[in-house]
Amino acid sequence: MSSPESPKLPVPADVDLSVRLGGLTLPNPVGTASGTFGKGLEFQPFYDVASLGFIVVKTITMEPRAGNPSPRLVETPGGMLNSIGLPNPGIEAYVRDTLPLLRTLGAPLVINIAGHDASEFARLAEILEKEEGIDALELNMSCPNVSGGMDYSTSADGARDVVSRVRDVTDRPLIAKLSPNVTDIRPIAAAAAEGGASAISAINTLLGMAVDWRHRRPVLGRGIGGLSGPCIKPVALRIVRDLWRTVDVPVIGIGGIQGVDDVMEYLLAGASAVQVGTANYYNPCVGKDILEALPRCIRELGASSVRELVGTLEDPR
Ligand SMILES: Cc1cc2nc3c(=O)[nH]c(=O)nc-3n(C[C@H](O)[C@H](O)[C@H](O)COP(=O)(O)O)c2cc1C
Repeated sequence: MSSPESPKLPVPADVDLSVRLGGLTLPNPVGTASGTFGKGLEFQPFYDVASLGFIVVKTITMEPRAGNPSPRLVETPGGMLNSIGLPNPGIEAYVRDTLPLLRTLGAPLVINIAGHDASEFARLAEILEKEEGIDALELNMSCPNVSGGMDYSTSADGARDVVSRVRDVTDRPLIAKLSPNVTDIRPIAAAAAEGGASAISAINTLLGMAVDWRHRRPVLGRGIGGLSGPCIKPVALRIVRDLWRTVDVPVIGIGGIQGVDDVMEYLLAGASAVQVGTANYYNPCVGKDILEALPRCIRELGASSVRELVGTLEDPR
């Protein structure tokens, strides 16, 4: 649904922006990252969010959760640390109250879920199986802000287990969202793909902390948090390139995207699609800005589709 005020984006005639993501065809590669786009409705006054390639919602869990003690956010050079946790009303209230609103947004909808263990991930997917208007599930196997949140993306066996348990209960496209807080993400991503993941999202936030030395305390209420924003882009680009080289399923690049140049860098490094996160906080029009500029950048490289650019970065001499 677009409000009467939200401006429509021109649809480019001569550039094919569509991408395929493990059984899912998206109108374009630009999505929003979980936890950074509210319910989507908040952004509707700024532009027609139906023009986005996809919308990923804040993580939903089985039971309601309150999230972490405040302060939960602090700015850092080139980024932001958050220890929001996973506050949400729980799956039952979510399906009843929020899902109907999300269905009106008009962009492909990705519901992001997290369980305490593999069977809870599967149970959440099972509950959502009865619901229409969901285009894919993203498994948040990588939240650094809750106890045990990264358990399923720090070992290959854990990743395979949780994805395969969810795969047993749904044919929907499954996106495994992985953590950068590991020595080598490649075997973990490969195991997620073996378990049935249709795509890999990389990356979630990097563990970090901020210190208030005058009060001899960490700034965040939980002590540690997840680092996001432009400062993590080089880490994420390196990971996307590694995954493009080694994993058979498409990669969704996430981390520090704030404009079209960043998107082009991710596509060339090997991302089939991207998610924009922290930038939504300081530029609510970032999705629109990127989509307006993307066709011109694709043409600049002599291409006429997103797909022909993915992974075409040349190797260093
Ligand atoms: C305030 C905040 C809340 C977030 N909440 C979630 C969440 O609920 N689930 C999730 O999978 N990722 C969550 N993330 C991680 C983002 O989706 C994304 O992976 C990360 O921020 C890196 O992208 P960015 O640098 O563009 O923000 C959150 C990030 C931020 C900044």
